[in-house]
Amino acid sequence: MKAINVGLIGFGNVGSGLVSIIRERKTFLSEKTGSEIALKKIFDKDIVSKRKVSVDKKLLTSDINEILNDPQIDIVVELIGGIHPAKEFITEALKKGKSVVTANKALLAEYGKELFALAKDRNKSIYFEASVGAGIPLIKALREGLVANKFNSVYGIVNGTSNFILSQMSAQNREFDDCLKDAQKKGFAESNPTLDIEGFDSAHKLIILTYLCFGLIVESKEILIEGISNISLSDVIYAKELGYEIKLLAIAKKEGSELEVRVHPTLLPQAHMLSSVTGVFNAIYVSCDLAGDLLFYGPGAGQLSAASAVASDLVDLTQSIKAGLFRPTLNILPDNTIKKLRAPEDFISKYYIHFITADKPGVLARISGVLAKFGISIASVTQKERYKSQVVSIVMITHQAKEKDLKHALQILSKLEQIKQKPVAIRIEEV
Ligand SMILES: NC(=O)c1ccc[n+]([C@@H]2O[C@H](COP(=O)([O-])OP(=O)(O)OC[C@H]3O[C@@H](n4cnc5c(N)ncnc54)[C@H](OP(=O)(O)O)[C@@H]3O)[C@@H](O)[C@H]2O)c1
Repeated sequence: MKAINVGLIGFGNVGSGLVSIIRERKTFLSEKTGSEIALKKIFDKDIVSKRKVSVDKKLLTSDINEILNDPQIDIVVELIGGIHPAKEFITEALKKGKSVVTANKALLAEYGKELFALAKDRNKSIYFEASVGAGIPLIKALREGLVANKFNSVYGIVNGTSNFILSQMSAQNREFDDCLKDAQKKGFAESNPTLDIEGFDSAHKLIILTYLCFGLIVESKEILIEGISNISLSDVIYAKELGYEIKLLAIAKKEGSELEVRVHPTLLPQAHMLSSVTGVFNAIYVSCDLAGDLLFYGPGAGQLSAASAVASDLVDLTQSIKAGLFRPTLNILPDNTIKKLRAPEDFISKYYIHFITADKPGVLARISGVLAKFGISIASVTQKERYKSQVVSIVMITHQAKEKDLKHALQILSKLEQIKQKPVAIRIEEV
């Protein structure tokens, strides 16, 4: 049985999970696949600290060249995360004729185009199953299982931290800050949670999903990105009273010949399957023309979950290497019915709007008047009882409106003396 040699870059959380899988499932995997995955070297900047899994010291190195320059290493697994030096290590590995497995969504979102082109040029592959949804076998399903399909849309809850916070707010009637602290205490949020709660991590994953579903590599700056840090408990409660849950969604959907790519808090009907995805779980809801609507669901993070996806990539690669085949990383064609990305100001959506206003007659008429001027009609309106002296909450659901029109109307309304706080507007998706 030919052993396929692996060099691991990054002996952290996922890296040590992978090491334990390779060790503990060695026979299981080789019996299944007919090839042996042999861990030849592990690089990390810290090779002294004790890890959850112990390894022979001879395997460890703090010199990256012991992996990159070793002609016997067939596959390099990058699990250090971040952009630099991960990009340089992967680039060098490809140039040295090695295939690559990575879980690094941030890197692929920023430099995927360049790295995939290099891999193709060198007849090598980059596999990245763990980069979205960790152990949920999503990427292989989109790339291979659904290869005959054309995609209409993908809606993802792809950030466990944000989903945990929103679910706690909804289930326990607690404010955002309180739920964020809870997430940090439980290890579900970083001490600096910006990447997760402001939507950037979801945007990284959306770039990968957009590539897989529509064959387009979009840049972060082309995506509308809004996070959840401005969502208040009152909005979560009012949304629930109206039959909705608030979720941070990563959305790519075709609208005629245009593609909308966006990340933002969204009101989803409670009956929708994504509304029942709670806690740190992830779910990706894909609509395609042959297989129909599909939901991929599971833990979107975790040492063994992510390592399971990396192991699956390793097995795929070992099979190709053993058969002497070159399998292109992504044999995905751009959807040629998409002529351009839709500009955010042209997005059309129903909206939930929350105004805090003076408790005086005529305020509602004034608001409706301004909205009407911009062609925005109201589907429902509720006035909440006064909760502080002299101010009330007015909650509206609009019919479909253009983003540009809503923004203009809200700018004007914000300046009115009767409007006491910047109105909150959240898009509604009926999916
Ligand atoms: N954790 C998950 O659930 C999960 C799920 C899906 C995907 N991923 C992705 O998997 C990758 C690894 O995540 P992780 O959770 O395993 O991270 P981690 O625990 O921080 O592990 C990274 C390891 O690489 C080391 N390292 C970082 N920069 C280095 C450098 N420049 N040179 C040498 N060593 C370096 C780190 O050392 P120090 O600790 O000393 O910095 C650490 O030992 C990331 O791309 C992440 O986005 C993670």
